[in-house]
Amino acid sequence: MQVLGIKTGLIRVGDDLAEVVEKGLAEAGLCLQDGDVLVISESALATAEGSVVDLKGVVPTRRAETLARRYCKDPAEMEMILQESDELIGGIPGVVLTLKDGFLFPNAGLDRSNAPHDCVVLLPKNPCRSAQALRERLSKGKRVAVIIGDSRTHPLRLGCVGVALACAGLEPVEDARGQRDLFGRELKITRKAVADNLVSAAQIVMGEGDEGIPAVMIRGAPVRLTDEEASCIPSIPPQECMYIGVLRGGMRPYQGGRDELISAARGALQEAYAPYSGFRVGAALLAGSGRIYTAGNVENASSGAGICAERAAVIKAISSGEREMAALAVVGDTEEPITPCGICRQMLVEFGSDIEVVMVNRDGRAVLATAAELLPSPFSREAL
Ligand code: THU
Repeated sequence: MQVLGIKTGLIRVGDDLAEVVEKGLAEAGLCLQDGDVLVISESALATAEGSVVDLKGVVPTRRAETLARRYCKDPAEMEMILQESDELIGGIPGVVLTLKDGFLFPNAGLDRSNAPHDCVVLLPKNPCRSAQALRERLSKGKRVAVIIGDSRTHPLRLGCVGVALACAGLEPVEDARGQRDLFGRELKITRKAVADNLVSAAQIVMGEGDEGIPAVMIRGAPVRLTDEEASCIPSIPPQECMYIGVLRGGMRPYQGGRDELISAARGALQEAYAPYSGFRVGAALLAGSGRIYTAGNVENASSGAGICAERAAVIKAISSGEREMAALAVVGDTEEPITPCGICRQMLVEFGSDIEVVMVNRDGRAVLATAAELLPSPFSREAL
């Protein structure tokens, strides 16, 4: 397999990327052949298509300012990150982790490197469509593939590897399930991220700095080219992802099965006594006997004497003789699904680490986690 860098001049907004790459190929004395794969850097594509933003002209919202303070970032950059991503998952000082179109990106894919002063390069607008268009322009009747490449780190690993944002003319992931290993055992979960691996190979010659090599030609790669339309790189839902599944503390979207409990919790909003905060919460607890115990939050003029809806429901169940609990639903008049406070988590986990907790917002959007996931490392009777 040969991996050859294609040198170009600095790519500017408005450049015709296919023309730039063709010129680079010609200057390197290269002519595309059947089976060749072109890897093109996403930042070159984004720059050419004009996805460059001058941060001096960006006015941050209050949310962007708050998050910028929390994660030690420039408020204007945070504003662009919020605009460019579907969800902000969290962050550490200097970097936030975001979801966009089903993929994780640091800082929503915004890039300050290789961007003019005070500017950031956004992600390409539609890498799938661009991969297809570049393939059509560059192939000249040959059977070639185009991959739009980006770089990413893996959890706990130092250094970037290549990932494909989109590709055309190539199956991005090959299914190796069903093949045999050296000992004849059938492979059960192995899929080969072929497109990602090719981007990694390309990045060995591309570099990340001032090399001026935004495209790479790979010849002789043992991969399957296709004539199908450009395909987006397949993703998996967050709850099936090992990293996200573990790190999100098990919090996953509710997928049905506890509707009756949720309506009972919603009904219990009427049981709330919340004249001080005006914030009503309803809880419904499904106990081992199959009975449902409901409660609202009960406030008091002496604020510390109040109790949350969840604990009020637990107390009703325990004082009715129950000792086992299967599930708890809690509903609040909140934007995001309401999550039980620390004391309620401690009280719940006492009666079962597997209790399913369904947390619901005002519109019925619900997420789910077990009591133990909501309170890792609880204080427990073993300590006494
Ligand atoms: N509250 C609950 O009942 N459950 C929760 O999960 C969070 C908070 C109540 C306690 C208080 O009456 C009011 O909400 C405002 O804190």
